[in-house]
Amino acid sequence: MIGAQWGDEGKGKITDLLSGSADVVVRYQGGVNAGHTVVVQGQTFKLHLIPSGILYPETECIIGSGTVIDPKVLLQELDQLHELGIATDKLHISESAHVTMPYHRLIDQASEEKRGSHKIGTTGRGIGPTYADKSERTGIRIVDLMLQDDLVKQLRWTVNYKNVILEKLYDLPPLDPEAVIEEYLGYAERLRPHVVDSSLRIYDAIQQKRNILFEGAQGTLLDLDHGTYPYVTSSNPVAGGACIGSGVGPTMIDRVIGVAKAYTTRVGEGPFPTELDGEVGELLCDRGAEFGTTTGRRRRCGWFDGVIGRYAVRINGLDCLAITKLDVLDTLDEIKVCVAYDIDGKQINDFPTSARLFAQCTPIYKTLPGWKQSTADCRTLDDLPKPALAYLKYLAELMEVPIAIVSLGASRDQTIIVEDPIHGPKRALLYSNGTASPVM
Ligand code: GDP
Ligand code: IMO
Ligand code: MG
Repeated sequence: MIGAQWGDEGKGKITDLLSGSADVVVRYQGGVNAGHTVVVQGQTFKLHLIPSGILYPETECIIGSGTVIDPKVLLQELDQLHELGIATDKLHISESAHVTMPYHRLIDQASEEKRGSHKIGTTGRGIGPTYADKSERTGIRIVDLMLQDDLVKQLRWTVNYKNVILEKLYDLPPLDPEAVIEEYLGYAERLRPHVVDSSLRIYDAIQQKRNILFEGAQGTLLDLDHGTYPYVTSSNPVAGGACIGSGVGPTMIDRVIGVAKAYTTRVGEGPFPTELDGEVGELLCDRGAEFGTTTGRRRRCGWFDGVIGRYAVRINGLDCLAITKLDVLDTLDEIKVCVAYDIDGKQINDFPTSARLFAQCTPIYKTLPGWKQSTADCRTLDDLPKPALAYLKYLAELMEVPIAIVSLGASRDQTIIVEDPIHGPKRALLYSNGTASPVM
């Protein structure tokens, strides 16, 4: 299950919903930059690293090898769940995952400041620098945290090395290596009971024919390779990332579910063709409560973008979609959908890889009628006002992918399940009746 836009599509809600059918839920990339909100019986849970399946006592949750783990934040998350009476003994952490260190956070924030007007608008959680160290092969992994003597030697060297960067490049005070060592040795002891060989564990679950749900963080357009580079995150949120970030072969994946909002949001810098600056943008932000789960930043809002929607279908090989936050559009007279872009009078139908070209794209819209009534209590497609159903059908046709789930509110029950994407007949969703037209 992946985000089909720029993140915050409602992946937390949909993962929680589908976790009822999953035996294992795996996070495979990203770190505490993610903020996944789950609302159950009026109680709100904000998860950054722990998979959104954690609220089901029987579900095993795995933080996979492709993630980057900030132990401090992870332990805070565990403590919060304990306080709420949620069991966390079924949470497992990959020994291959990389560890976010204090210098990563400092470098992330300081480098953003140095970039000035070219800043990326990161979450400031040290994600880029942690992945950079992984690529540079100087990173510290969970398995290293578990080996006390080696860790002490490794950290003494690394902290002193990073201090040169902090002091000389960013004019920041150095970190005390011994304090960092003590802090992280403490984290290591608390995390130790959760640490496993995650790929082996997932493979065993596959052999036992258990259902495994891979929960993406961020979204397709934030993908390091396929997103709006350089305004992206440093991991691979796309479906292919699930294989790499959890150590599972592509032949083991049965179905790919994309989550998209009924409109678009983006937090952080970077081009956003359908962004709305005026009244409608404000309305979407207010009705959608579009403030970041991790940083509290106001999210930029705009109309649904069918070009990036089709791109997400292609890049992820989507089988079906979950459309969230349809209820946010309830009060609008009319709703626009971007069907293509225009650059200097030339129509562009496909997402341009060049950031420069993408920044020049202006949307070509199709306007559909609004429905001007609440959808929050709809529980079947038949309950929906006709224009709302027509809107969903239009999105499915535009992207040539069926809609399996419609979400009409933050709570678990505010959902229309058109077809259960986990237990439903594999691929029967697409092209039923032998036609090429997607069904809903
Ligand atoms: P994620 O990062 O993809 O998990 O999404 P976030 O949790 O960051 O942001 C989605 C926000 O929308 C959260 O506050 C959810 O509680 C809320 N939400 C999810 N689905 C719906 C929906 O269908 N309608 C409304 N109004 N809110 C929703
Ligand atoms: P979830 O999982 C939305 C954005 C940041 C910034 C860019 C790079 O909740 O959907 P980073 O800190 O990753 O180096 O920042 O990516 N970003 C997100 N935007 N949702 C997220 O996660 C995000 N995680 C990172 O705002 O533009
Ligand atoms: Mg989020």
